[in-house]
Amino acid sequence: MPKHYGSLRRLSSLIFATLLPLLAIPSQADTYQFPKVPVPADNPMTPEKIELGKQLYFDPRISLSGAVSCNSCHNVTGNGTDNLPLSFGVFGRVDTPRNSPTVFNAAFNTVQFWDGRARSLEDQAEKPIQNPIEMGMPSGVAVVDRLEQIPGYREEFAHVFGDKKPITFHHVVEAIATYERTLITPDSPYDQYMAGNKKALDPSALSGMKLVEATGCETCHAGPMFDNTGTPMGTGFYQKFPSQPDYEPCAKYVKQYNLHGDEGRYKVTRKAADKNLFKVPTWRNVALTAPYFNYGTVQTLPEAVKVMAACQLRKKLSEKEVADIVAFLNSLTGKFPQQTLPQLPQTPDTTLLMGVPALTKAADKKMAH
Ligand code: HEC
Ligand code: HEC
Repeated sequence: MPKHYGSLRRLSSLIFATLLPLLAIPSQADTYQFPKVPVPADNPMTPEKIELGKQLYFDPRISLSGAVSCNSCHNVTGNGTDNLPLSFGVFGRVDTPRNSPTVFNAAFNTVQFWDGRARSLEDQAEKPIQNPIEMGMPSGVAVVDRLEQIPGYREEFAHVFGDKKPITFHHVVEAIATYERTLITPDSPYDQYMAGNKKALDPSALSGMKLVEATGCETCHAGPMFDNTGTPMGTGFYQKFPSQPDYEPCAKYVKQYNLHGDEGRYKVTRKAADKNLFKVPTWRNVALTAPYFNYGTVQTLPEAVKVMAACQLRKKLSEKEVADIVAFLNSLTGKFPQQTLPQLPQTPDTTLLMGVPALTKAADKKMAH
């Protein structure tokens, strides 16, 4: 049987022995399905909320400079990233400390960010808006103040949330998270193969599929998203990276790609055991989201595979093995849902962006020339 749930089964055979009759495990091709997006009970999805969330996702007016939106760094008309090592934030700042992950399938992440510091998409969305080097808004209240001045948003929020104070920062992030839950990419060649189309994977990808199990990648990259071994929502699956820095080929990569530059989960918990722990990222669409790793220092997928083999498994793969694994990872590129640009509600007769300090300074400088 293809190894879709192989590792999960290996890791928890005991639990499985008792739960197996209760769980609907797709062991037959005709029962295989791309997983359904988990939706929190307190933030149900509606078409109107999705549309509002999409507008906010694309709206640069919820950034301090009025020039940065979620889409600036997570371009959903492409692959959900900016393909940059590190991102350009508000006022062109380039010092985001980490590489921007894709938002496609982020709805399946059990926690968000490389270090798992947000437990849900709702929690996550609050952070970049108020991050001084991303969207730079001073507070959630400042976001609400801006939106309150846009008549179209006042109407839409009232329609979607309908309570006494429809525009709140919490409603903003609920709407954005709802839109993000539509950003999923089913029907990759791998999914087609699992659903019974044995021609969907070529021999190289098939050999890669066996290799990721045989070499041990799947002890970490397991499950339908290849990012955990059955971790419940809200609980991250973290692993040390690099975990084999004393293995000589890994030591070389550590230097070359600055793999020790970030303390990972330790920054959140301050527990020594969490030093250099990172959330295991998904393999879905990974072939499109270069550069790789939390610092974005590795430029190509074959190189990322070699780094993983050396630094997580103390293994040196042959060129053929690397090519096969890459072919398998390529087979995890799914179908991206067609995006149409939203129409944003206008701000008639005014701009919301006067008096932004750094803007004024930049303009003064220009005038002086
Ligand atoms: C200036 C660039 C930038 C902007 C703007 C930005 N992000 Fe991000 N985003 C990042 C970076 C960098 C990370 C990784 C940071 C980390 O893990 O510490 C990230 C992480 C995320 C993640 C976590 C994904 C994962 O796999 O862990 C999600 C989801 C996300 N952003 C959504 C959003 C949304 C929604 C907005 C708008 C409200 C937004 N981002 C605005 C750069 C940006
Ligand atoms: C011990 C756990 C573990 C094993 C084994 C492992 N990985 Fe990883 N993998 C991780 C972690 C953790 C990261 C995130 C590293 C970071 O912080 O950048 C990662 C990241 C990656 C990335 C980069 C993803 C991105 O979006 O930048 C790829 C590609 C990858 N792994 C492939 C593999 C392959 C192929 C193998 C087997 C040869 C493998 N991994 C084995 C834990 C593991």
